[in-house]
Parts: sequence; structure tokens; C-alpha cells
Amino acid sequence: MVKLFRESVREAVMETKEMSIGNYEEAISLWESCESVGLDKRTDSRERISIYLQRNPGLSFVALENSKVVGVVLCGHEGRRGYLHHLAVAEGYRRKGVGKALVERVVSKLRLVGIRACHIFVFADNIDGQEFWQNIGWNERTDLKIMSKNITL
Ligand SMILES: CC(C)(COP(=O)(O)OP(=O)(O)OC[C@H]1O[C@@H](n2cnc3c(N)ncnc32)[C@H](O)[C@@H]1OP(=O)(O)O)[C@@H](O)C(=O)NCCC(=O)NCCS
Repeated sequence: MVKLFRESVREAVMETKEMSIGNYEEAISLWESCESVGLDKRTDSRERISIYLQRNPGLSFVALENSKVVGVVLCGHEGRRGYLHHLAVAEGYRRKGVGKALVERVVSKLRLVGIRACHIFVFADNIDGQEFWQNIGWNERTDLKIMSKNITL
């Protein structure tokens, strides 16, 4: 667990820790409160996120204030590159370094397991999100487009 800062007035301690499936309900509420996080019932169900966390141990994190989830990020890799998803910080906790701290924990862990590049997907109309990524040192790839396919049963 990594302490981010201590708020002396309220004696509250903000910290980050590895996400477990027990954090799912609070994480999904936070994601649902953010228009710019693209949720999909098929891929973001409790069952799918549980499988995701098991396949990618130690790469997803929550930020907690007094045990309450105020930030979350998912990350996984396939042996070559990391893919970071669903970074969100609760309104009221933004611009305090929480998002950056979560991303730094992910990047440190990717480095430890030998991964040397990581991607994120940001909606083209999420200008604030893009500024965040640029301001913390991530580069926009103007040479790529995403192609997707739904896989039906
Ligand atoms: C994007 C988001 C995760 C940033 O989290 P945060 O905790 O507020 O970010 P931080 O405080 O760590 O910001 C680090 C730096 O990023 C930049 N930044 C953060 N939010 C920004 C914004 N809205 N506009 C411009 N720059 C921003 C700043 O340079 C900031 O440093 P500063 O506060 O010293 O100026 C948060 O705003 C959020 O949850 N947004 C909704 C969901 C979302 O868009 N997620 C990203 C999906 S790809």
C-alpha cells in the first residue's frame, strides 16, 4: 500500500493499493459516474473483471480515502505491451495527483515485469482526459486508428 498524502485537517489518509474483486461495486459506481469512461455490460461485468484481475495480477489499483474507493485503474499485458483502461478519479478528488499516482504505480509494475510500452484508449471528444495524459508525459499516436469487432456466440 502506498500513501499519497495526509490531510492534516481531517486526519484522512489517501493511499493506493492493488485492486481486488471486492472493490468491484465501488469501482463500477465510479466508472458509471464518468461519461468519458466507456463501459460495456459484456466486458465490464463482475465476472469479466474478476477474470481480468486474475489474468493480470498486481497491475490494477485503487486509490482509497478512509477505505473508500476514490480512484481506480485497470491494466493488463499480453507479454509485449501494457494496456491501461478505465482510469477514473471521483469528482472532488481530482487535481490532487491521484490519477497520476495510479498511473505511476501501473507503470512501475509494468517495468518490473519487463514491459517497455503501454497504450491507452481515450475517446476523441475527451479533451480533459487527453490533456491529463499529455501533461503526465504520454504521447498521442496520430498514426493509428482502432478497428474493433463484436464476437457473437
Ligand atoms: C482524467 C482524470 C483521471 C485525472 O485524474 P486527476 O487525479 O484529477 O489527475 P491528477 O491530479 O493526477 O493530474 C495530474 C496532471 O494532469 C493534468 N490534468 C489533470 N486533469 C486535467 C484536466 N481536466 N485538464 C487539463 N489537465 C489536467 C494536470 O497537469 C495535472 O497536474 P496539476 O494538477 O499539477 O496541473 C480525472 O479527471 C477523471 O477521472 N476524469 C474522468 C474519467 C476520464 O476521463 N478518465 C480518463 C479516461 S482515458
